[in-house]
Amino acid sequence: MRMADLIAKKKDGLELTKEELNFIIQGYVQGRIPDYQISALAMAICFQGMTAEETADLTMAMVNSGEQVEITIPGKIVVDKHSSGGVGDKTTLIVGPLVAACGVPVAKMSGRGLGHTGGTIDKLQSIPGLNVEMSEQAFRAQVKEIGLAIVAQSDSLVPADKKLYSLRDVTATVDSIPLIASSIMSKKIASGAQAIVLDVKYGSGAFMATEQQARELAQAMVDIGKNVGRDTVAIISDMGQPLGRAVGNSLEVLEAMECLQGKGPQDLMEVCLELASWMLVLGKITDTTQRARVILEDVLKQGKAWDKFLEFVSAQGGDIVKLKNKELPLSPLKIQFQAPAQGYIQNIDARKVGTSAMILGAGRENKESTIDYGAGIYFLKKTGQQVEKGEPLMELYTSDVQKVQPALNLLSQALTISDSYEPEEPKVSAVVC
Ligand code: URA
Repeated sequence: MRMADLIAKKKDGLELTKEELNFIIQGYVQGRIPDYQISALAMAICFQGMTAEETADLTMAMVNSGEQVEITIPGKIVVDKHSSGGVGDKTTLIVGPLVAACGVPVAKMSGRGLGHTGGTIDKLQSIPGLNVEMSEQAFRAQVKEIGLAIVAQSDSLVPADKKLYSLRDVTATVDSIPLIASSIMSKKIASGAQAIVLDVKYGSGAFMATEQQARELAQAMVDIGKNVGRDTVAIISDMGQPLGRAVGNSLEVLEAMECLQGKGPQDLMEVCLELASWMLVLGKITDTTQRARVILEDVLKQGKAWDKFLEFVSAQGGDIVKLKNKELPLSPLKIQFQAPAQGYIQNIDARKVGTSAMILGAGRENKESTIDYGAGIYFLKKTGQQVEKGEPLMELYTSDVQKVQPALNLLSQALTISDSYEPEEPKVSAVVC
């Protein structure tokens, strides 16, 4: 096989075989195929796309490029959840313990945040003492023992994705549905998920700008699940405005704690309950999402999800005394953002909010940046609410006074206030495999 022939084949819109895709991925990881040829292939994939079977074969070639975690618990189905990224998205912190408290084991390897989007691992690291690095053996043991572990993704899993993603980042080949779908699904499959629930977001703060694009990505991932024998469901949700009220690591943990105690904001709880319902269905606890909701509401009411969260934090070395006392790092400078006019909040641009939070220190501008866990933004008012001129709308937290003005400038662009507002229901829908 010659790599140049395979690039030409894809350039001509033909389907690559499983053997050819294995040859490409193995050759790339082992250093026989150089970056420039993979770049050319990635660009050909951007233009020509891939069939569902080809995308599944690429996914499995990537899975086989590294180690794979296997977690078997008799009588149980290990379920994972993945969100395609957003602003204020702390759903894993809520859904993980909630679902585990219902008897479905959750094994999750998560990433760190980059740019305007946050990452679950950064949020967890704002809890004093909490350890996110764990051996595969300890990860497996914790899932078996308490039904929940959330750790940083191990370097030995899917090395092909790490190499390919860095290359896509600098060759304008990130936004290809088969490449995104295989990248996400390969990591889920390699980290031991027997069933997968995906949250594909669209809107200003998301990877996918429109609902239609999100639906296509969701379908591509659900098709991979079907092709490789993992039950997969994708929900599509709106990321036009930040999810919940908190953006920033400690602030988001505090908000997740409120949700687990039954006091969360409605938009955030709606997405969490939808994801968690599907996880109970895939985990075969019940057969409909309607019945799952009843179980979830009951578990929340009885405080079992909160107890599971504390058990999880404690198992990973976190200080639950500090956590219960809400002693998480909060940056010392607290500034209010006041409404520039009276009216109704028509829109809060999630991407601009995410970037403002990053400027304040809550996120990373590049992979080497350090994080201020106590930095971020807390919304006192959200889309649809009426405001008076000068009324406080947000609280900003930072440790660096120089970051305040740039963040305020961007936040004023993020906000649209108008004379009237037509309320909309939160949009969440499911694509089922
Ligand atoms: N997230 C991933 O893990 N991979 C992509 O390609 C895009 C988003």
